[in-house]
Amino acid sequence: MAYKRTELSPEDIDRQLALCERIRAMHGGRQPLAMVDTYGCQQNEADSERIRGYLSKIGCGFTSDETKADIVVINTCAIREHAEMRVLGNVGQLTHTKAKNPDQIIAVCGCMVQQEHMAEKLKKSYPIVDLVFGPHELWRFPELLLTQMTKKQRVFAVDDASGTVYEGIPHARDSKVKAWLSIMYGCNNFCSYCVVPYVRGRERSRRPEEILAEAQQLIAEGYKEITLLGQNVNSYGKDLDQPMDFADLIRAINDIPGEFVIRFMTSHPKDATEKLFQTMAECKKCAHQLHLPVQSGNDRVLKAMNRHYDRAKYLEEVALARRYMPDLVLTTDIIVGFPGETPEEFEDTLSLVEAVRYDSMFTFIFSPRKDTPAASMPDPYTRQEKQVWFDRLLEAANRISAEKHQEYEGKTLRVLVDGLSDGKHGNLSARTDGGRLVHLTGNETLVGQFIDVEITGSNTWALIGRVL
Ligand code: 5AD
Ligand code: SF4
Repeated sequence: MAYKRTELSPEDIDRQLALCERIRAMHGGRQPLAMVDTYGCQQNEADSERIRGYLSKIGCGFTSDETKADIVVINTCAIREHAEMRVLGNVGQLTHTKAKNPDQIIAVCGCMVQQEHMAEKLKKSYPIVDLVFGPHELWRFPELLLTQMTKKQRVFAVDDASGTVYEGIPHARDSKVKAWLSIMYGCNNFCSYCVVPYVRGRERSRRPEEILAEAQQLIAEGYKEITLLGQNVNSYGKDLDQPMDFADLIRAINDIPGEFVIRFMTSHPKDATEKLFQTMAECKKCAHQLHLPVQSGNDRVLKAMNRHYDRAKYLEEVALARRYMPDLVLTTDIIVGFPGETPEEFEDTLSLVEAVRYDSMFTFIFSPRKDTPAASMPDPYTRQEKQVWFDRLLEAANRISAEKHQEYEGKTLRVLVDGLSDGKHGNLSARTDGGRLVHLTGNETLVGQFIDVEITGSNTWALIGRVL
């Protein structure tokens, strides 16, 4: 289908909000309970906040106990087979809760169900599921829910509605300190292993004035950390009639008065620019933090992955970013065992990791995704062989993270205390400007404040600090 950008009108969302009121009235005086279970990436976390926003308007309270929930929404991920297996297992478990409470409404949404074969599987093999809707249909969740409730029939809404952009869905945010802010939806890159462009559609950007208004609102409400979300934030704005690029957007948000920190993810190396690094360095509120997925350190593999950069370009980019920001915290994603990757090619990934020394890494074994080009490429190496490579990569990742964390010891840093923690290293959790996790012991009233701490210890995953 040809891509068409469609902006929903405010009336479209107002209509959904009116339907929320109708559903609320159907519950009489009793407050229904809802459970929203989220898998996958930050985009999904943000989508779940919108679903909870609608559920709040419907009058729901929230529970994390599926046996008590009147409405269960499972927001799924399709990025790897493992994620899908977990979802299907957990949906299957709901057979027991539905047996005890036949009126329970079970909805499954998100990327997994946007694949035709998965929607079919739910239709045929999971009769307990009442409502299925893909990411393109999220904006009309109230309407779909009302149809299911009034007609008492299963509803499947998984049309491939190319490019909707919508504004005005209420968010029920998890935190009072940190907020996700979606700046764009979808992806145009078609990396040969990845299902995202098929399930989330083509790239479309929200208008800058809408994003700025939301950022201003968040800051006025007291949020201290705003994470701008997009599958490839570096191509923000390209589809707008009055283009504004991502660096300009950061600068505009940075100009909003107040004490807060701006983070963003994810950046595609093919689109990261010197202008972006310079802007990050100049904007006081922008974290010196970059998630720059490399995926592989070998040029043949990068080409087969359709990544549009090579090892040399990637390394130059990292060097440039570090020239602008010597304190840059750099993280990445890596896929091990892409079809046909040889032991020598894997060594190139390992040597790149040793050269770059990431602060932390997300590592995955290749998982074939139906209908992606990589799924039909010859894949001669066994799972066991790939596991050996994976373990070596993880060892390197953990060793380097631990070494980098050690370098913080003895230093005094500004951190944002972002929540409570029940870990053995303290009752508070905080983040450095670069986004590293810090465990602290201190008064709970510190949550939401920027404070100075001395780093007294560290491990592979976190720093341990003392409030000054
Ligand atoms: N198999 C394994 N990992 C994958 N990723 C995306 N698709 C696949 C796949 N088919 C990883 C990439 C991406 C991250 C979000 O998930 O590293 O950056
Ligand atoms: Fe998937 Fe590549 Fe798009 Fe990231 S940039 S979502 S890996 S297709």
